[in-house]
Amino acid sequence: MTKHQYDVLIIGAGGAGLRAALEIPEGFSCAVLSKVFPTRSHTGAAQGGIGAALGNEEEDSWEWHMFDTVKGSDYLGDQDAIEIMTKDAIRAIIELEHMGMPFSRTPEGKIAQRRFGGHTKPENPSDPDSKRIAVKRSCYSADRTGHVMLHTLYENCIKQKVHFFSEYFVTDLIMSGDACAGVVAMDIATSEVHVFHAKAVMLATGGYGRVYRITSNAHVGTGDGFAAVYNNGLPLQDMEFVQFHPTGLWKLGILISEAARGEGGILLNNTGERFMERYAPTVKDLAPRDMVSRAILTEIREGRGIKGSDGTYYVNLDVSHLPKEIIDDKLPEITGFARTYLGVEPTKEPIPVQPTAHYAMGGIPTTPDAEVTKDKKKTIVPGLYAAGEAACVSVHGGNRLGTNSLLDLIVFGRRGGKAIARFIGETDFAPLPTDAADRTLSKIDRIRNSKGKEKPGALRLELQEKMMEKVGIFRNEKELTEMTVEMKSLRERYQNISIDDKGVVFNTDLMEALELGNLIDTAEAITHSALARQESRGAHSREDYPARDDKKWLKHTLIYKADAAPKLDYKPVSITRFQPKERKY
Ligand code: FUM
Repeated sequence: MTKHQYDVLIIGAGGAGLRAALEIPEGFSCAVLSKVFPTRSHTGAAQGGIGAALGNEEEDSWEWHMFDTVKGSDYLGDQDAIEIMTKDAIRAIIELEHMGMPFSRTPEGKIAQRRFGGHTKPENPSDPDSKRIAVKRSCYSADRTGHVMLHTLYENCIKQKVHFFSEYFVTDLIMSGDACAGVVAMDIATSEVHVFHAKAVMLATGGYGRVYRITSNAHVGTGDGFAAVYNNGLPLQDMEFVQFHPTGLWKLGILISEAARGEGGILLNNTGERFMERYAPTVKDLAPRDMVSRAILTEIREGRGIKGSDGTYYVNLDVSHLPKEIIDDKLPEITGFARTYLGVEPTKEPIPVQPTAHYAMGGIPTTPDAEVTKDKKKTIVPGLYAAGEAACVSVHGGNRLGTNSLLDLIVFGRRGGKAIARFIGETDFAPLPTDAADRTLSKIDRIRNSKGKEKPGALRLELQEKMMEKVGIFRNEKELTEMTVEMKSLRERYQNISIDDKGVVFNTDLMEALELGNLIDTAEAITHSALARQESRGAHSREDYPARDDKKWLKHTLIYKADAAPKLDYKPVSITRFQPKERKY
């Protein structure tokens, strides 16, 4: 077993992790550990843009961006954090441009901006109460914004000589008393377990989309950071809020960016009706994602979906009326996906789409400086930080607006990096426990030597199918309760898994078995949090409790792992500028 010591460890090489790494001052050692090569991190899959009220194409203001984000969150987002994010957005975009990020341009050479779901402005800017209409707020690089952002940040990290451990899979946190003192990780190339001792650890491990069978998430999205925290007695927050992006490629879930609708694409049902006009008369196809996903599923449930060759249903996304130069210049990737994966020519025919599990609104609770907190009093865990999709600041509340995830990464990644820089300057290493790696070593040993009948691939598929069926877009008490029983049994069966590959070189069988444990922990937290919340808010839509209930449920969920069943607690929402109102578009 190899031991390392760094002042700072950043786990995950997506946008949040890389942005944080850039803040660690010279003179301190910093390593980024990533399960994949850094530029394969899931940030690279973000397509449509990053939100900021630059006002380059039409009048805009950060207060309007803040209002939209609060309203989009169904009033569960913490308004102090949302204010920080939307105010800082403008500086953050200029900073990215100065780092070399190649944004698309307006004819005059400014950063181009496009419309996106839920981003609005008052029709009459001098009357804040006038009808709200869609605004061009998303700064973009064609439909590969995350890709170019990730590469820009990675190049800057290389310039700054950040040290990378690529293809290292973090299996556990090292806790020293109340503080975090490092991580345990497995080198995927050799299966060797390493102990990393550190003053500060940031979890920037992304989301958990792979809990569901239809997802836009890369294979790496297995909830690793959530599980690391959950298994060390720390809580997860608002896990019931799972975002289904309305337009995943039918059957595959691959993201077809909301930018398609931002550029003028429309959703059609089996009669060719533009059905979003009925659900969101003002902004129509550019309503927030929770609403559009529910609308698509309602159309399908009520017999207005289109039946595919395999008997499953979809709706159509039509961009065929858009000028060729918009498709070629602004939507090249996604139209390519439709051609490659479904054999559809988007300039001539509509693209079959269905909602796809996309984003975790919940996650590891943090302060706006990315410090992880462990209870409803927001007590800080010394040395532990989280940012990006892994974290819950909470700026997205019950439903995230498109383009606010890339923004969250760079704003809170940077703030976390700065907070770590302060912390390591005034702190010594916490003692490294001698048994730091024991839990990981015995887990790997058990999986390797097991003769059990369960196979990780089959068990994972069962979990993913059941989560789609019982903890999807629409939920109810019966199915959620059934899923809690399923979870118990899946957890027991997990103890009985065995793998076929007994080797040590790139043992993906072992990796997937370890990842499955993380998926099970994450799914358990989602299911129990969803069962407890007896209301509908944002992406959490309960058929048995169809209304939002601010009296009882305007609060954040905290869930802790426990022996018999997880334990729940709640903490207040920060409301500063905008009192909760009915959410209509
Ligand atoms: O639709 C999209 O391009 C996704 C963007 C996002 O999740 O922010």
